[in-house]
Amino acid sequence: MKSYHDIVGDGGSKVLEQVAEQRTRITDGLAGVRHLVAIGSGKGGVGKSTLTLHLAGALRARGLRIAILDADFNGPSQARMAGVEGVLFVPGSRKVALPRTRNGIAVFSMGSLIPESQALEFESVAHGESHTWRATREFALLGEILGAFEWGELDLLMFDLPPGADRTVQFADFLGPRTSFALVTIPSEVSRGVVSRSVAALSKGPNRVLGYVENMSGYYCRDCDAIKPLFVSPEQPPQGLQPSADASAETDPSGLGIPCLGTVPFDPALAQHCDRGIPLGELPDTPVGRALEHVAQHLLDSLESTTEPPR
Ligand SMILES: Nc1ncnc2c1ncn2[C@@H]1O[C@H](COP(=O)(O)OP(=O)(O)OP(=O)(O)O)[C@@H](O)[C@H]1O
Ligand SMILES: [Mg+2]
Repeated sequence: MKSYHDIVGDGGSKVLEQVAEQRTRITDGLAGVRHLVAIGSGKGGVGKSTLTLHLAGALRARGLRIAILDADFNGPSQARMAGVEGVLFVPGSRKVALPRTRNGIAVFSMGSLIPESQALEFESVAHGESHTWRATREFALLGEILGAFEWGELDLLMFDLPPGADRTVQFADFLGPRTSFALVTIPSEVSRGVVSRSVAALSKGPNRVLGYVENMSGYYCRDCDAIKPLFVSPEQPPQGLQPSADASAETDPSGLGIPCLGTVPFDPALAQHCDRGIPLGELPDTPVGRALEHVAQHLLDSLESTTEPPR
């Protein structure tokens, strides 16, 4: 039986050619995209998917051409949140066309293909060994999706990342230096600690970290029309009680060492919109709506001021 050391080159698999061919398809497919932004954190459940969709909505309302790639293949949220569950994928002019939300955002989410009652499975003859190749298969699938769909001419392609500080860096590696990162945290020490690990890990690579958004920064009480504290840490006074208005890109109250792109309060109506797949435009003028507008503006300003690294 041959061992690993007996294999010469690629063992005849032509894997290097395949990878190079896929890279070319991805580069060509994304050639019309002005900005690539990954919305990550490291921490789970802090609102990455919510902010991805609703920041996209705020920018779409300004006329920007936006697409979202839900890179959380095992826990896809965008299909439900964006209202594209169970859509049919149809051929476009050259590749597969992307489904769109009511407000015109193109969305790829595994949740459009796989019902919520089912987990994503990769076929394999091996049993009990999936941990050894699962990440590889997932990134291969991400490459296929980037290469197979019609991303077309876009101002912004947003990646909704899964949790995990280590995975955040894997996405940075895979997506390359063109992709900038915005990180989401909530006002808890636990969350800031994890996000801080993501910042440290990303700082070792070439990807630009635009800043962080503090989500769930206070609770918007509709009855009293006021924002109340949600998380209060003994070391730090509650932040974001005036959502976003005083959060400037120059200040960093979290101590994460990256710019603050703004704060967004928790609003039960927003959670309900997410569950029902209703765009934010249908929310009346509220603190959360204004906060998202403000963060979207900061994100855009930050992107426009970016000197893009070479492709
Ligand atoms: N500012 C907010 N106001 C109201 N609800 C919110 C807000 N931010 C997030 N939520 C709700 O909190 C829940 C978790 O948010 P979300 O799924 O966006 O987090 P996530 O970071 O993407 O999670 P995961 O790590 O699992 O991908 C969702 O039900 C969402 O609707
Ligand atoms: Mg998510």
